[in-house]
Amino acid sequence: MQKIYFYITTPLYYVNDKPHIGHAYTTLAADVLARHKRARQIPVFFQTGTDEHGSNIEKIAVDMNMDPKAWCDAVSGEFKRMWKVLNINYDHFIRTTDPEHEKRVQAVFERLIKTGDIYPGRYSGLYCRPCEAFFEESELKNGCCPVHGTPAEKVSEETYFFKLSKYQKPLLEHYAGNPDFLAPRHRAREIINFAKSGLKDISVSRTKVTWGIKVTSNPSHTVYVWFDALLNYVTGPGFDADTSVDAFQMKWPADVHLVGKEIFRFHAVTWPAMLMALGLELPRQVFAHGWWTVNGEKMSKSKGNFIDPEVVAREYGADALRYFIFREAPFGADGDFSMEAFRRRYNADLANDLGNLLSRVLNMAAKYIENRLPGKPEAAKLFDTISAWGPEIDEKIDTMRFGEALDRIWQAVSMLNKEIDRQKPWVMAKDEPESVRPFLNDLVWCLRAIAGWLYSFMPDTSTRMQLALGIGRTGTEDLETSKPPQLFPRKL
Ligand code: MSP
Repeated sequence: MQKIYFYITTPLYYVNDKPHIGHAYTTLAADVLARHKRARQIPVFFQTGTDEHGSNIEKIAVDMNMDPKAWCDAVSGEFKRMWKVLNINYDHFIRTTDPEHEKRVQAVFERLIKTGDIYPGRYSGLYCRPCEAFFEESELKNGCCPVHGTPAEKVSEETYFFKLSKYQKPLLEHYAGNPDFLAPRHRAREIINFAKSGLKDISVSRTKVTWGIKVTSNPSHTVYVWFDALLNYVTGPGFDADTSVDAFQMKWPADVHLVGKEIFRFHAVTWPAMLMALGLELPRQVFAHGWWTVNGEKMSKSKGNFIDPEVVAREYGADALRYFIFREAPFGADGDFSMEAFRRRYNADLANDLGNLLSRVLNMAAKYIENRLPGKPEAAKLFDTISAWGPEIDEKIDTMRFGEALDRIWQAVSMLNKEIDRQKPWVMAKDEPESVRPFLNDLVWCLRAIAGWLYSFMPDTSTRMQLALGIGRTGTEDLETSKPPQLFPRKL
């Protein structure tokens, strides 16, 4: 069985809190890419989900006086609901508490014990509970976790180790031989240097954590959450450590794992080494995007400055949010979210530039040419210019340069607005009524191209534009336009 699907993943989100703008960012990026592929008839498998085991989650549930599973069900449900609000079309939502996942993780663990890639030992080290990760003394800042700023705990326990050290050389060879594996390029150096500095075997089981997947051959151990969670990328599509599964063969290897920069190392070092141990192909790319701050500050519980994507989407529409986060900062770099910046872009880019352009053109089409178009323009100046940008926009989306794709689309939008101001169709209509028809036709065709390009970013807006521009549900082009919908009402 051969690979058929373009397989895209997001990280599995911890169910320690409600989804916020940072979680939405990765999932939306996956959705943009997935929609873009599907629109070109490429079969896509887009997987997201929730990471539900570990002491953090158990502690929260206990604090809330809830059974851990009931807590996970509730928060996992919140993620699913949020993805609906944001119009995210995933194919599979995996939970690490799914019985199939648990069973498959256990089988992998046993298999790696058999091959010697996992072996028993004892671990002493410095542990950050919120990260669920061990740190070297040198990585800590004054004894505190570099990510959370909270003190690392001294931990000593019996544990199983995964032989990460064995894969140092093959990993470095893989990075060298596959320059697109680590993306964007500017983040690759850090990973390569880390791997070069020497990889130590890592602890992959816990005796003190009860809320986890039990190691079958030694049930006093549970599988370390990261080892459990990373395996989702193969258990989700159906990997079985013991037999070959068609559904899995049709999807693996993943085409891209989208992750935030803080978990790049897990995905670029630990995960590929685990795959090598299992004799599986490596994903084609791991892409690490940047982080959002809010009004220049890190989002945190103590500051209470989380942006709730649902609140923004309810007031401005999911499409406006989908647009903003990809236009405001290059994917791959960090960005700052502020409601002022959001409102500015909403009013300027969406209500003014795009919304007005559509209503201007459609109102003129109604007034001057009774909504009737003469057909695909021949020798149309604007359409010829603008439609030639299509392949470049496609390529930018494919390589996850989302901001650049949107820049290019807005360049087209402003070009059309300027052209209308310059050519003044209302004057043309008075002087030479027939001369206005080809010009408006040209504009409508340009807008049809723009509506198509916007589909993966703003699916709802794109569909409404296409209907008004006379592109039928079946994708066929009518020769009539209709009344402009109000896409983005201005907000104060
Ligand atoms: N459960 C692990 C991932 C396991 S994957 C096998 C985890 N979960 S998380 O809930 O903390 O979510 C992490 C992801 O959320 C990051 O990789 C990133 O995609 C996203 N973000 C969380 N906060 C963010 C920002 N402030 N800005 C942008 N994205 C960030 O790590």
